[in-house]
Amino acid sequence: MNVAIITGASSGMGREAAKQIDKIYTDGLSEIWLIARREDRLKRLASELTHKVRILPLDLTEERDLQELDLSLNLMNPDVKILVNASGYGMVGPFKSSRCSEQTGMIRLNCESLTRVTHMVLKYMQRGARIVQFASAAAFVPQTDFSVYAATKAFVLSFSRSLNEELKKHGISVTAVCPGPVNTEFFDVAEQHNANFNFKKYFMSKADKVVRKALVDAYHRKSVSVYSLAMNGFRLLMKIFPHELVLRVMTLLQNGKII
Ligand SMILES: NC(=O)c1ccc[n+]([C@@H]2O[C@H](COP(=O)([O-])OP(=O)(O)OC[C@H]3O[C@@H](n4cnc5c(N)ncnc54)[C@H](OP(=O)(O)O)[C@@H]3O)[C@@H](O)[C@H]2O)c1
Repeated sequence: MNVAIITGASSGMGREAAKQIDKIYTDGLSEIWLIARREDRLKRLASELTHKVRILPLDLTEERDLQELDLSLNLMNPDVKILVNASGYGMVGPFKSSRCSEQTGMIRLNCESLTRVTHMVLKYMQRGARIVQFASAAAFVPQTDFSVYAATKAFVLSFSRSLNEELKKHGISVTAVCPGPVNTEFFDVAEQHNANFNFKKYFMSKADKVVRKALVDAYHRKSVSVYSLAMNGFRLLMKIFPHELVLRVMTLLQNGKII
């Protein structure tokens, strides 16, 4: 049974990935597995897809739910053709006054759960399979008022690049997707404590375009996928400029002292 597994499928780029995979894999995909906490959203998405869908309403930060995914994999013994790890969240604001549970929750979901799901699913992948990991352009440099989130995405980028190299001999590729700001529900969560990134509007991308590029790059087995000229430029600059200087400029931008 050939399967695609998508986490974070209830909204944003995970949802978009499910829709595009549904269209692209017209041959030989038996089921698409959709994972997120909001079951109603997953059901609505399932009704829009042409493939048979298995809905897994799971909280990937809960041990019990991770074990449920493991059990489903054990029972169904699928041949996973593509895994898209899109579950994740960020929280904007000063670390000192933040809720600690929200900070550690990012590490749990963005790093630990992503690692657990990847490890679990890898056993059910064969030569030719692909893994798509949602990192972020925030992985390219540390970010003030987004420090833990940026660190989690640096983890995803580093982990994905080395795993891609490690898995080459098995014919499995890993693509880290590193978008700048994307127009999804992400910022509803990220900016809920009245802190915001006022410069994000200048760089906002559309989810369908970011995901299309990610899937094309995964098809070509690229290790990193960066959408838009601006974000490719940002990536290049972050390789050149001292990060201390970048952090200063970012702080000024965030405080509205430059734009
Ligand atoms: N939007 C951006 O600007 C942007 C930029 C760069 C990278 N990213 C990354 O891209 C990925 C997708 O983000 P998005 O923009 O599509 O955001 P989004 O619309 O907020 O989607 C996040 C997804 O994660 C799921 N999720 C959250 N907590 C979960 C949990 N405990 N267990 C299982 N699923 C959980 C949500 O579903 P439920 O709430 O139903 O569980 C939702 O489907 C994330 O990793 C994000 O960090 C986003």
